[in-house]
Formats: sequence, structure tokens, C-alpha cells
Amino acid sequence: MDLFKVYPLWDIDIVRAEGSYVWDDKGTRYLDMYGGHAVISIGHTHPHYVEKVVDQLKHIGFYSNSVIIDQQRELASKLGELSGKRDYQLFLCNSGAEANENAMKLASFVTGKSKVIAMKGAFHGRTSLAVAATDNPSIVAPVNRTDHVVFVPLNDEAALEAAFEGGDVSSVIIENIQGVGGVRMAGEGFVRKIRSLCDRYGALYVADEVQCGCGRSGKYYAADWAGVDADIYTMAKGLGNGFPIGAISIAPHIAPKFGMLGTTFGGNHLACAAAIAVADVMAADRLVDHARELGDYLIGELKKLPRVKEVRGRGLMIGVELFEDAAPLRRKLLFDEKIFVGSSGDKNTFRLLPALNIGREHADRLLEALRKLLTTSC
Ligand SMILES: Cc1ncc(COP(=O)(O)O)c(C=O)c1O
Repeated sequence: MDLFKVYPLWDIDIVRAEGSYVWDDKGTRYLDMYGGHAVISIGHTHPHYVEKVVDQLKHIGFYSNSVIIDQQRELASKLGELSGKRDYQLFLCNSGAEANENAMKLASFVTGKSKVIAMKGAFHGRTSLAVAATDNPSIVAPVNRTDHVVFVPLNDEAALEAAFEGGDVSSVIIENIQGVGGVRMAGEGFVRKIRSLCDRYGALYVADEVQCGCGRSGKYYAADWAGVDADIYTMAKGLGNGFPIGAISIAPHIAPKFGMLGTTFGGNHLACAAAIAVADVMAADRLVDHARELGDYLIGELKKLPRVKEVRGRGLMIGVELFEDAAPLRRKLLFDEKIFVGSSGDKNTFRLLPALNIGREHADRLLEALRKLLTTSC
């Protein structure tokens, strides 16, 4: 059987990884400034993570959500501490799309309304409602098309208000820093407007933290920069450092009902052990603060480079927009300098989404390579 070829691939076979480095089958070492799409948060094969997952597997890997799984409670408590939202409630699933799907569904259950307001440039995943709330018609199949989702331009308060005036709004979903969209930031005033309009119209504010969350922006949730709470935060990617896990953190005013949400695999012992290990390392090594500090340094230095039009983002979620197509530079970085960075929906913008514990030496290595390539032609 052949693979169903939906991904354009680099001709590189990665077989080993440690910290912020990965090695291919020929023994070539690459600096990973992309974290496999923002997934690697505490570094590849972190010893505490490996130990926790291996140890858990020796005891039990999976049982269904019909019994107590104490690791779920431990994870909820640790995420409550890390995020500072101790009175929120945790529901565990398996991916970012699933987290968003559950969040929007929950908002609709709770409010009894059906409309979702999403942002132009948004990416929320590929399941039915998540993809309908994603601003990319080429990945929305006819069966996913719906009138329930209304798109407004990011940071356009008048358009947001007008969308509410149409009535029947169950939720507003927003990436406080758009990832796939090219690292575009929601303004703090705009986010506060979402909060106040949701309160006025009885809708829920869903912060999609799948990419920008779990400490990457220099606060646990990127939404925290606006100083107002969301009703639901969705997470995945960095939460499990590569182990598939998704989650939604739900405000205390939202009451659960048996059967309202559910999943077979979500919250299994092994996934929880992985996410607990990540939370342990995040707390012990103060990685949220580290991401902010190192991000400030990196962003400051990137702005000094030639041919750079704009540097956007916060912490270790950074978009670098060139005056030209970024693809040739990315290719040179990968094949000549052995550094992984990411593309984005905007062809001139490449993304940096490294592990949150990269050191200054990793940042400097990237800067040195960029300086070299951007002063020569590529
Ligand atoms: C902001 C955001 N939301 C949701 C998703 C979907 O996550 P997953 O691929 O785990 O379903 C992604 C994936 O890139 C994302 O960046």
C-alpha cells in the first residue's frame, strides 16, 4: 500500500532528536527552529518526559473514560497552576481541531445559539466546524460549508459589532496570534471588545491557543496579553511535546452535563503522563518567562536584518516578513545552513516556533545564518 500523498515533503528522513537538534539517516544534524509546527515545547526527547512516558507505559497505557484516571486530575491541577486559572475545568481530547470543535459545540450547547464569529486569516483545524471556521476555502469540502460561520477582519471592531447585531451568536473564536495566517496579532483593544460584546450578547469567547498557547507567547495563554479572560481556551501542539493530546479549559460558569462531550482516547493514561511531564518541566525551568525573554532578544535582532520588512509575534512565536518570497531563503536555511524554519499562509513570511527552552546560542546560530544569507543573494 502506498501513502495517500497530501503533504509536499522535504527529501530528509529524520531518525533521531535531542533538545533543539534533529538528525537525519545520514547523520546530518539540523537546528530545529520550527518544533515540528510549534509542537516541541520542552525540547525533543527531554529526559523527564521520556522517563514519565516509559514508566507510565509499563503500568498502563490506556483505559476508557468510564473509570477514574488520576493522571487527568493531576494534569488539570498542574495546568491550573501554570495558567493561573485554577477554577477552570479541563476536558481532554486528542488534537487541536478536536479541541476547537468541542469548544464551539460546547458554546452552542450552553447558549442555545448557532452562529460562530471567526476571523479572516484564521486556521482552526480540519474537522467539520473547525474547518468551516477556517478562512481557507480550498480546504473546506462542500459537506463542511455552513451559514453558521461569519468571518470578520482581524482587529475590525465595527465589523465585529455588526456581526453581533445579526443575532444568534454562540461564540467568537480567535487565535490571539494567528499562526498559519502569518503571525498576525489580535490587538488588545479588539480582544477586550470581543469580551464585552460576548458579555452583552450572551455569547462565549473561545481563545484558540492550539499554536500560540502553552507558554509560547511569553504568557501561558497568548490571550492573557489583553488582560481579559476567555470562556474557553483550546490547546494541543505544545501541550504534549509531540504526544497527541488536545484539551479545552472551561470557565467555572459553564456547567457540564453527562454525555455533553466525549471521546474514546482523550485523556488516556499515556497522553496525560506526557502532558504532565511537559507541565513539570515548564514550571521547574520557568519556560514561559524564558520564552518571553529569549523572544524579546530574537525579535530585536531579527528587526536589524536586511531585506526584512516586518517582524511580528511575541515570545517564541515569531513571523519574519521579507520584501520577497521567503521560500528560497527557507530552502537555503535548510539545505546549506541545516536549520528548520516554517512557512506560513503568507508566502513572504516564514515562522519561527522553536522549543521554549532554546538557548541564546541557538538563537545566535540562526541569526548568523540569516545575516549571511540575507546579505548574499538567495
Ligand atoms: C491555531 C490552530 N488551531 C487548530 C489547529 C489544528 O490542530 P490539529 O492539527 O492538531 O488538529 C492548528 C494546527 O496547525 C492551529 O495552528
